[in-house]
Amino acid sequence: VTARRSTSRGYPPFVIDGKAVSNDRLDRARDEAGELAKKGIVPGLATVLVGENPASRVYVAAKSRAAKACGFHSEQFELSSEIQESELLALILRLNEDPLIHGILVQLPLPPAINPTKIMASIAPHKDVDGFHPINVWLAASGDMSRALLPCTPAGAMILIDKACVELETHLSGKSAVIIGRSSIVGRPMANLLLARDCTVTIAHSKSRNLPDIVRGAAVIVAAVGQPEMVRGDWIAPGAIVIDVGINRLPATGQNRGEGSESRLVGDVDFATASLVAGAITPVPGGVGPMTIAMLMTNTLIAACRANSVAEPMM
Ligand code: GUN
Repeated sequence: VTARRSTSRGYPPFVIDGKAVSNDRLDRARDEAGELAKKGIVPGLATVLVGENPASRVYVAAKSRAAKACGFHSEQFELSSEIQESELLALILRLNEDPLIHGILVQLPLPPAINPTKIMASIAPHKDVDGFHPINVWLAASGDMSRALLPCTPAGAMILIDKACVELETHLSGKSAVIIGRSSIVGRPMANLLLARDCTVTIAHSKSRNLPDIVRGAAVIVAAVGQPEMVRGDWIAPGAIVIDVGINRLPATGQNRGEGSESRLVGDVDFATASLVAGAITPVPGGVGPMTIAMLMTNTLIAACRANSVAEPMM
């Protein structure tokens, strides 16, 4: 049992259990799919993996496994890294027309010979469960969140921020939020989501000056830079909500090298020092990571409802 805390209490922080929140959402997605099945609707997700990136392979396998666990129809496509862009485009056009498929996910990064912007733009916007199509990017950028399909990782991070706000008995409106990282997958869409919730948003990046000072001014910090343990406790205002999107694999080193030693997964936040001051913080692993897949299932469900003119579930 955790006692309720005010934001002025920094220690111990509320550790946001993304795994539990994700499992909860996956359960609800499965229940909703059961309701849709009574109407003869089965949400369908197609995943497309191009090339041999081992991390991508793991992510795509997890996505199609989750889809099956939710009772969705799931199809996986694996293409060689040698394929022509036109072959990938042809597959997407076929999936755009396929009535069994409501969501299409092309795992990024793509091989250098393939233009990701062109590929994302070729996916039918209503099947774009990654939220990367220009129309969905535009809807999110203009604050039209209810009509957009939203990118999964930022949308999942947002749900964890809401959990933290409930736990800390606070609200987002008017708060200053700093995002570290300006990628189109996380940083930029995260800024749009926080802006839509009336935060004052700063996007910091590799060229930002005085980064620690910028971060110190934030009530909400989202780290998405891919720099292991970069954000340290002394960068964080007491009571801040700290969301760590980083997943960095550190090689086994020093005394634990050798037999039985394993590489370690760490985030962009130095959890040990950050948790001495944060009001709420996500762990790595078990924080934002699991939410991405849950949000992909939510988006697929939403896409299936819209395709069939059925009211969207309130999730
Ligand atoms: N690569 C890293 N994150 C993502 C994501 O959310 N979707 C896709 N398609 N590729 C990714």
